[in-house]
This record gives sequence, C-alpha cells and structure tokens, in this order.
Amino acid sequence: MDKLLVHGGSTLRGSVNISGSKNASLPIIAAALLTDEDVIIRRVPDVSDTNYMVQILNALGAEVERSSGTIRATCAEISDTAPYELVRRMRASICVMGPLLARKGRAVVSLPGGCIIGDRPVDLHLKGLQALGAQVEFEGGNIILTAPKGLKGAELDLRGTSGPTVLGTDNVMMAATLAEGTTVIESAAAEPEVIDLANFLNAMGAKITGAGTRRIVIEGVAKLHGVEHTVIPDRIEAGTFMVAAALAGEGVTLRRVCREHLKAITAAIEASGHSVSFNEAGDACTVHRGTDLKGVDLVTAPYPGYPTDMQAQMTALLATTPGISVIKDTIFPQRFMHCAELKRMGADIKVDNGTAIVRGTEKLSAAPVMASDLRASAALVLAALTATGTTEINRLYHIDRGYEHIDEKLLLLGANVERVRV
Ligand code: EPU
Repeated sequence: MDKLLVHGGSTLRGSVNISGSKNASLPIIAAALLTDEDVIIRRVPDVSDTNYMVQILNALGAEVERSSGTIRATCAEISDTAPYELVRRMRASICVMGPLLARKGRAVVSLPGGCIIGDRPVDLHLKGLQALGAQVEFEGGNIILTAPKGLKGAELDLRGTSGPTVLGTDNVMMAATLAEGTTVIESAAAEPEVIDLANFLNAMGAKITGAGTRRIVIEGVAKLHGVEHTVIPDRIEAGTFMVAAALAGEGVTLRRVCREHLKAITAAIEASGHSVSFNEAGDACTVHRGTDLKGVDLVTAPYPGYPTDMQAQMTALLATTPGISVIKDTIFPQRFMHCAELKRMGADIKVDNGTAIVRGTEKLSAAPVMASDLRASAALVLAALTATGTTEINRLYHIDRGYEHIDEKLLLLGANVERVRV
C-alpha cells in the first residue's frame, strides 16, 4: 500500500498535460461489449479503475490489449455474468449491465456495495432498463436482468431525488441502442462524459440525438460495428491541477483541456481571486495565483453546474483563502470525509447537513492523514502542497484509481513529493 510524502512549500511552475477522462473511459470501455467487431479506444488514462474495467471485459471473455493509452477490445464471444470479485472493487462496473443485457438478453451483475461518499443506489438504472422490457430479480447479492424477447424502445424519465444519474443514463442509452423501436430518456444526465459515450455509440452505428441535453432520443438498430475513438480530456483532473496552480503556482499551464467543460470550475477559481486564461483554441489554460483572495459560496449541481467531483479539492483551496466559504454538496451530501483530515492539518471547517463552512486560515501544517476516497485524497495532496512540513498521505490506492501518475506530474511542476512503497 503506497503512501505519498508531500514536503510543503515548493512553487509550481511550467506545464502539465491533462489525461483522457476516467469517467468517460469507463462506460466507453463497457460499450465495446455491444459489438463483436474490433474497438479501439485512445487516450484511456492508466489508472486502476480503467484497469478494473479491462479485467471485467477479459473475465467476460473479451480479448483486450492495452498499450500507451490505447485499448483494443474484441468482444466476439462473451458471457452474461460479471464476476463479483472484480465488480465489488469498483462501483462503475454497473455500467456493463446495459450492454450485456442488450447483447445477450441477460445480465448478471452483483449489487454494488456501500460507498464512502454516500448510499449510491441503482434504482434508476433498473427503472430505466425495466421500462425497456427487462425483468429484474435479485439473488445471492446479484442483480439478474433478463429480456428473452429482446428490449423494446420506450419513453422513460430518469429523474431521481438528487437530479439526473450519469451512469444510469449511460446504461439505458447503451441498452436502447439495440432495442426495437425508439427510446426517449427524459431528465437525462447532460455531462460531457455522456456526450462522449453517445459520440462513441453513434460512431458504432447507433442513432442517438440530444446527448448533452435533458432529453435523449435513441432509435434502435439491429447491430453495432467496430469503431476508433479518442476519449475527451479529464475535466476533473484539469480542475484538480487548476486548484494546485492557484494554491502553489506561479503561472502553471494546463494542456489538452477543454474550456467548454471547465466553465463552472473556472468561475469558482476566479471568484476566489485567481486568474485563469485560455488560449484561443480553448485547449490550454494558464492559472495565476491571485493577490486579493476571498471566500466563495459553492453548491454542487449536475452539469453544467459545479461538479461534486471537484468539491473536496475546492474545499482544500478555500481552507487557506481569507474569509468564509460555504460549500454545499447536493449530490452526495455525505461526501465530506476530507474535512476531518483537513482539520487535522489545522483547517477551520464545520460540516453540517451536507454543507461545509470553511473559515480560511493563513497556513495549514503537515500531519499524517488518511485518504478515504478518490477526490478526498486529491484534496489532501493539494492542501499538503502549501502546508508547513511534510504531510504523509496514506492509502494512496484511492488516488491511483482516478489520477494518472499524479506524483510524477506534480514532480514535473516542481512539487516536492515522494511515493513510498510500504
Ligand atoms: N442516484 C439515485 N439512484 C440511482 C443512481 C443515482 O438516487 O439509481 C443518485 C445518487 O445517489 C446521487 C445522484 O443520483 O445522489 C447522482 O449520482 P449518479 O448516478 O449521477 O452517479 P454515478 O453515475 O454513479 C458518476 C461519476 C461519479 C460522480 C457522479 C456525479 C463515473 C464513473 N462516476 O457516478 O464520479 O461523482 O457521476 O457526477 O462517471 C468520481 O469520479 O470521483 C466519482 C465519484
């Protein structure tokens, strides 16, 4: 179990390349199950979550090769049962459910267990697939979906109490590509990752319109074919490096980003007093640390709102920003585990009812801290960059799930970090 030592106080300079999106890659890799032809996916980040997804495809009988960011998958003969041993490691495994059901008429996937960031139910995924005609049973911890006569297009609404569901929209959209007739998903998630998946599916021969809006229409087709696709940039990794640059940088440039996807994050960083300037193409930006800093109020919301996946990192920035900041997470109200650890580093944060009230302190100080989930770990690394002394971040496997070589990228920018193999 690796740990990271961050010796605080270095200034970050230079530029960093942002990787392909983890959250776009995961459903796109799963969507390879929809065809028996060859699928090539480029710019897949080398993180443990994408490795788990590759292992799941292998376990289902696919042939998958992976080299320097490119995955080649051929899902000629596949089984309908995703093994518990792999599925239990990653909640996003649930997105093999739609493709398996559509291709095989049956899908067996274990029910995802608890998750540190909240309950994370799958009722909306099942509601959507049932609307397409699937029968749902639960047995021995597994969800068993069957559609012996095939799936049929339907109109359905995926609105949940916390808004739309990203992977739920993906699952229903993937299943509907091979259904008979037209499917209309109302209250669909509009995240860029959903659009990337729709583009991937359309390039395979699917007929999807409206991705990126709350209403997606899918006209079913009989068969999908092979495809080559390049994954969009990871907007959360980009946001994380924007925060690093704001906290400890002197004009850090991020390359291979997408301005359009970063609007809410850019607005939050600018509101706290830092400056962000994009090049004309919108695929690179430079962040300058501000001098007149102030607290901000943030509420997480589905895209194009401020992303819950950037809540912890922004909390780390605001912990040392003068003034009071109020951060409410409406999507995962329990996602504040990082606050207890930040407080151990001297932050002044009160968490109550899905809201963190942060009173900016001048400086944090190093402490041994424990990573609890992916984005919480990123927040601790960010906080440690400017803390006095050496922060020891344990359970680094959380960060390796979703950040490609984060320690190497930080080192290149001039941070003083060491990965220690324990
Ligand atoms: N929800 C339901 N019922 C469902 C599904 C979701 O009530 O059947 C609720 C959830 O409890 C939550 C809200 O709906 O309150 C939104 O959850 P969503 O389904 O959109 O989450 P997800 O699709 O499982 C993806 C990302 C998460 C990200 C969320 C929200 C992937 C692989 N994961 O999860 O990313 O936080 O959308 O934007 O795309 C991360 O990368 O750190 C991460 C957790």
